[in-house]
Amino acid sequence: MKKTKNENKVQVCIDRDFTISKVDERIFGSFIEHLGRAVYEGIYQPGNKFADKNGYRKDVMKLIQEINVPIVRYPGGNFVSSFNWEDSVGPKKDRPRRIELAWGVVETNQFGLDEFMDWCKKCGTQPMYAVNLGTRGIDDAKNVVEYCNSKGGTKYADMRIKNGVKDPYGIKLWCLGNEMDGPWQTGHLTAEEYGRKADLAGQIMKLVDPTIETVACGSSNLTMPTFGNWERTVLECAYDNIDYLSLHQYYGNAEHDTPNFLANSVAMDQFISQVVSICDYVKAVKRKKKDINLSFDEWNVWYHSNEQDKKLEKWVEHPHQLEDIYNFEDALLVGSMLITMLRHADRVKIACLAQLVNVIAPIMTSDTGAWRQTIFYPYMQTSVYGRGEVLNTVVKVPTYESKHGDAPYVDCVVVADEENEAVTLFAVNKNLEDDFELTCDLRQFADYKVVEHSVLTHKDLEAVNTEENPDNVKPVDATKNSKVTKGILTSTLPARSWNVIRLAK
Ligand code: AHR
Repeated sequence: MKKTKNENKVQVCIDRDFTISKVDERIFGSFIEHLGRAVYEGIYQPGNKFADKNGYRKDVMKLIQEINVPIVRYPGGNFVSSFNWEDSVGPKKDRPRRIELAWGVVETNQFGLDEFMDWCKKCGTQPMYAVNLGTRGIDDAKNVVEYCNSKGGTKYADMRIKNGVKDPYGIKLWCLGNEMDGPWQTGHLTAEEYGRKADLAGQIMKLVDPTIETVACGSSNLTMPTFGNWERTVLECAYDNIDYLSLHQYYGNAEHDTPNFLANSVAMDQFISQVVSICDYVKAVKRKKKDINLSFDEWNVWYHSNEQDKKLEKWVEHPHQLEDIYNFEDALLVGSMLITMLRHADRVKIACLAQLVNVIAPIMTSDTGAWRQTIFYPYMQTSVYGRGEVLNTVVKVPTYESKHGDAPYVDCVVVADEENEAVTLFAVNKNLEDDFELTCDLRQFADYKVVEHSVLTHKDLEAVNTEENPDNVKPVDATKNSKVTKGILTSTLPARSWNVIRLAK
């Protein structure tokens, strides 16, 4: 449906019984890598006025709890592919300083595996731990599972107990390496080599602890020349010993072309559908019963810091690296990406916004404080209000031409939380000039009323939040924009806006 003048209308059609899937809360996960100031000066800064007795930043923890982040992927990323996990445990004074090859810095190992697990517990989140399949292999993968998940009486479990942790951590979710197709990855592999290594690593790790789940690397992004064949080959080699296949994707707007930038949710939607097709193709030819689901374990906007990162000095400790300062339009795309993943909740079971603090992150810190970037808001609001059943949301709306094909002016999804008697509609209006009038037949939710309509909008697409001006871009209450009359929700979605319309009994 192409837009003609005065057709700024969107009709949202749902049915209470037509559901896509229950949302797996891990779709609201995030990522902390030993990179830049994510760990050091991000979540961990002994001596800082906000640090607790362990050195964890309490102000940062509070913001993470506000988002209610269910899982955090760690310790990389590219970092993991030359990392020795043993360097990061035991007395801090004995831990080695290492040349860190992925990011050209020095790693002090003063924050490691045991600190991360302790920090997760204090934050109220769960770990997603990645093993090194770059410079290392199945033996080390086996040992780290033993260190984390075995009771004791054997070498690595006893090492954990000696380090002061009596009970096993029981880490459930394990990544089998990171972006192993990428030539930039330390120890990168061909699809056959990686498929075989992932298969064996998954098998041996599951022998140590049969309750764990494993995530194999898919392509590093959709533009990799091997995309498709890589996924197929890895699945053919490792189907029985993996549970999820990963997707990674970052978008940028260096060309200052906002309509095309915001249309990236169409590209993301196609990417997810293509990977689902490959998983199901291999399932069919292998005559398998089990589905391989998706772990979109790196996604975000990333381009603002590219130029300044080229000037970084090498071999220093935790420099300001990948510190994208997000603007208002980035928040719109992040909102659309979240909607896209929710619309695929039947197959996307895990997703990690990359990353969480300072490094391409919703939360920034300085020595004197922590603040929310623009992208914090759609991420926080979907995590807090987007749990329940995703309804099959049909969106009748005009489209515009983009380099990814026809893009809808409005992205939208509805999540129903029957248990808590709440229905939430998330929508992005990508039209830069015009408001859109939304209607949605809610007669099946007859006694539900609008409790809140929150809007994030700004006249300046490039507006940002800073430590001095942290509330420049933040949601405002627009509940007067929405009402339910005779079971029909009507609402105004302002031009260029992220909307959360909450209904309850
Ligand atoms: O998140 C930043 C980097 O992006 C990760 O280390 C890597 O996996 C990806 O290329």
